[in-house]
Amino acid sequence: MFASLDCRVTSVDLCPEQLQRDRMTADRYGLDLECLEADMLDLSALYGRAFDLVYQAISFCYVPDVSKLYAQVSRVLRSGGFYRVEHWNPVNMQLADDHCWTGRGYELVRPYVSGQRCVWQRTNDKGEPTECWHYIHTLSDLIGKLCDEGFAVLHFAERPADEECHNHVYSYVPPFFSLYAQKFKNRQKKSSGDMSSRRRTRGEREIAARR
Ligand SMILES: C[S@@+](CC[C@H](N)C(=O)[O-])C[C@H]1O[C@@H](n2cnc3c(N)ncnc32)[C@H](O)[C@@H]1O
Repeated sequence: MFASLDCRVTSVDLCPEQLQRDRMTADRYGLDLECLEADMLDLSALYGRAFDLVYQAISFCYVPDVSKLYAQVSRVLRSGGFYRVEHWNPVNMQLADDHCWTGRGYELVRPYVSGQRCVWQRTNDKGEPTECWHYIHTLSDLIGKLCDEGFAVLHFAERPADEECHNHVYSYVPPFFSLYAQKFKNRQKKSSGDMSSRRRTRGEREIAARR
C-alpha cells in the first residue's frame, strides 16, 4: 500500500514465504520494494537507517518481550518519525480456545500476565496436529512501554472485527486495537514500565506467589 503511494518501502519478516508473497505483489503492480528476512527483535541489519514511518501489522503476540521490540522500532525511526502498530486485544487471548458461550457470557481462562504463553492445538493443511502459541501482553506493556520508550501516543482506536465476520464473541470483546505514535525528538526514555516499579496485575502476583 505504501509503495503504491510512492513511498520507498522495506518489508521485514522472519518468514521467507511471506516475503516471497510481498515480492510477487510488488512485481504484479510494478512497485519497488526492499525485502529483508529478519527477526523483529533484532533489526541490526537496518541500524544507521532512519525511517519516516514504521507500520507493524499484528505480530507482537509472537514475541515475549515488548520493551525489546519497541526499542528496535525506535532504533530505526528518525527523530519525530511515526509508528503505527496494530495489537491483538489481550482479553481475546484470555478466552477459552473454542470461545465457548456459557449461556451467560464468555469465560476468561488464562491469567492477565505479560509474557504468558498461550498454547493452541491445531490441525495443519495435511491434517497433522500442530501446536501454535501466542504471548499475552498487558495494556500497561503495550501502551505504557511505548511511552517509556520515548513515544507520544497521538491516536488510539479499538478495531471491530471485519464486516463479514459475525463472530458473537467480538460484540463482547473487540479483537484488535491500534496505536499511532510519534518518536519524541529529545526525550529521555523512562523505565517505569518494568516489573520493579509498576504495580503487578493480580494474575502476575498469583503466579509469583506460586514460584
Ligand atoms: C499477521 S502476519 C502479518 C503479515 C504481513 N506482514 C502484513 O502486514 O499483513 C504476522 C507476520 O509476523 C511474522 N513474524 C512472526 N514472528 C516474527 C519475528 N520474530 N520477526 C519478524 N517477523 C515475524 C510472521 O511471519 C507473519 O508474516
